[in-house]
Amino acid sequence: MRLRNKNALVVGASGTLGGKLAHKLHEAGMNTYLAGRDRDALAAVSSELGGAAHSTFEAIDTDSCRRVVETAADSLAGLDLVLVATGVAAFGPTANTEDAVTEHLLTVNTLAPVVLGRASLPHLEQRGGTLAVLSAILADHPTAGMADYSASKAALSAWLTATRREARRRGVDVFDIRPPHVATGLAERALSGTPPRTPPAADTDEVVETIVSGIRDSAHELRYDLDEQQLRLVF
Ligand SMILES: NC(=O)c1ccc[n+]([C@@H]2O[C@H](COP(=O)([O-])OP(=O)(O)OC[C@H]3O[C@@H](n4cnc5c(N)ncnc54)[C@H](OP(=O)(O)O)[C@@H]3O)[C@@H](O)[C@H]2O)c1
Repeated sequence: MRLRNKNALVVGASGTLGGKLAHKLHEAGMNTYLAGRDRDALAAVSSELGGAAHSTFEAIDTDSCRRVVETAADSLAGLDLVLVATGVAAFGPTANTEDAVTEHLLTVNTLAPVVLGRASLPHLEQRGGTLAVLSAILADHPTAGMADYSASKAALSAWLTATRREARRRGVDVFDIRPPHVATGLAERALSGTPPRTPPAADTDEVVETIVSGIRDSAHELRYDLDEQQLRLVF
């Protein structure tokens, strides 16, 4: 997709990856609408982007998810890209994980992106647009000490794959972004537990650049090759 003068909703623009991606898309000439939960963080990103329109939403409230898509579509007069960069982590052995933590992970990491994606598709269909969603490497490599977090991302990834098959007939690209560990502070903000030992973090700027390339070139997936320690776009 040519990015210049196209319209993008960035959900999770208050977060580390979402904020960096919003900057890159703005630099590439996109008109951005920003959504997030933290009002102050969102306002800060908006002012860095010259006052981009923005609104808060709450991922555990599905009405709020649908509403933010409609508000952005109205504000920008159409959507060419919906990028979902919200998410939350939790760590610890399965036996010690509280049901409420599992429920929260499945709501924020799976249900919310599904609802956001479903609300976005009719808008994206009108303009041959792209739905791009951050799942995680855990969708490919479910990991001990992160069973519930892995499951929430694997379910999201499965939904994106099946939806891509449906949506392509209607001219919509679906990009499943499965980054490796990057040092964004997500682990420190986990709902519970401390992360197991992970390989060194991938370079955040390289991950962000590769995601933007994937959006531009209509990639289906971003994957991380653990043997080669390399990001790979899949078409
Ligand atoms: N960092 C990694 O190693 C890594 C690796 C693979 C995949 N990912 C995925 O990449 C995405 C972005 O993560 P990040 O590393 O940039 O982490 P982050 O900085 O913590 O960003 C998380 C974002 O999710 C939002 N969020 C969390 N709970 C929410 C809720 N209940 N309602 C609305 N928004 C909510 C946060 O909003 P507020 O800040 O406004 O509260 C923030 O915008 C996530 O899906 C994550 O799973 C990250």
